[in-house]
Amino acid sequence: MKIVSVIDEIRECVRSARRDGKRLGLVPTMGALHAGHGALIENAVRECGFVVVSIFVNPTQFGPNEDFSRYPRTFEQDTAYCQRLGVDAIFAPSADQMYPRCQQTWVEVEKLTDGLCGATRPGHFRGVTTVCAKLFNIVMPDIAYFGQKDAQQAIVIRRMVDDLNFPLTIRVCPIVREPDGLAMSSRNRYLSPDERRQAVCLYQALESCRQMFDQGCRHANELIELMCGLIERAGGQIEYVSIVDMETLEPVEIIDRRVLVALAVFIGSTRLIDNCLLDLRPPEKCV
Ligand code: PAJ
Repeated sequence: MKIVSVIDEIRECVRSARRDGKRLGLVPTMGALHAGHGALIENAVRECGFVVVSIFVNPTQFGPNEDFSRYPRTFEQDTAYCQRLGVDAIFAPSADQMYPRCQQTWVEVEKLTDGLCGATRPGHFRGVTTVCAKLFNIVMPDIAYFGQKDAQQAIVIRRMVDDLNFPLTIRVCPIVREPDGLAMSSRNRYLSPDERRQAVCLYQALESCRQMFDQGCRHANELIELMCGLIERAGGQIEYVSIVDMETLEPVEIIDRRVLVALAVFIGSTRLIDNCLLDLRPPEKCV
C-alpha cells in the first residue's frame, strides 16, 4: 500500500493503475476511521481494481466555532486499517497541498444546502463540495463511495456530479451502527460514558418513528413530535428533527412519497446526526 501526500505522486499512481486497465475507486474521508468507513472501503475493494482512500481533515468545511482543531487524528491506526482491508493507496495531503493559495474558486450547490445541516453550518457544504471536486479532479475515480450516514452530503455530492458532468459514479452505502444502534462516527469518541449511553436516543427516536409509520401514521408533525419527546426526555438538545422529500430535501407534511427522516442532536457538547428512509412501498418479500 502506498502512502502519498503529494498531488503529482497520487496522479502518477493512479495513471499507472489506469494503464493496467484497472477500475478506480475513491473513498474520501477525514480519517479517524471506523467500521462505517470500513464498509465503504470494502465495497470499493470488491468493485474496483485500484482503491484510493483520501484522509484529509478539510479546514474549509468547518465553521470558526467548530471542532477542526480537536477533530481526532489517528493516522497510524488508519493506515494499518486500510492496509488490512486491501487499500492500494492512501492520499493524505497537507492543507498546503490542497489549498496552496487563498482559494478563490468554490463549488456551491444551491437550495439542497439551505436546510437541515446547511441551516446551522453556513459554508459547510461549500467546503465539502469544493474539496470533493478537487479530490475527483486529482484522483479521477470511476466510482466514489459515500455513506448514507451523511444523507444530505450524499445528495448534495450527487447533484454536483450531475450538474457539473463529472465522469464518475457515486455509490452510497448503508449506515453502519454500533450493537445498540448508535450510528458509527468519528465524533462518538468525544462522548463521556454517560453521554455514550444517552446517545442511543437518536436511533431509538428513528426506530419509534418507523414503528408509528408502519402502523399507518402519515402526518410528519406527529412523527416529529414523538421523536422530539423521546430525545428531550433522554437529555438530548435538538438542533433539528425533520421529515423531508428525498429529492428536494424540502419538508413534507403528509408522507405520500419516499422521505428522509433526519436529525441533528447535541449530546453534551457533541453534535451527532442520524437518519432513516421511510418508503411507502412494502419491502419486496424474499422467497
Ligand atoms: P467523514 O466524516 O470521515 O466520512 C467519510 C465517509 O464515511 C462519508 O461518506 C460518510 O458518510 C461515511 N460514513 C461515516 N460514518 C458512517 C457510518 N456509520 N456508516 C456508513 N458510512 C459512514 O464525510 C466526510 O468525512 C467529509 O465531509 C468528506 C466527504 C471526506 C469531505 O471532506
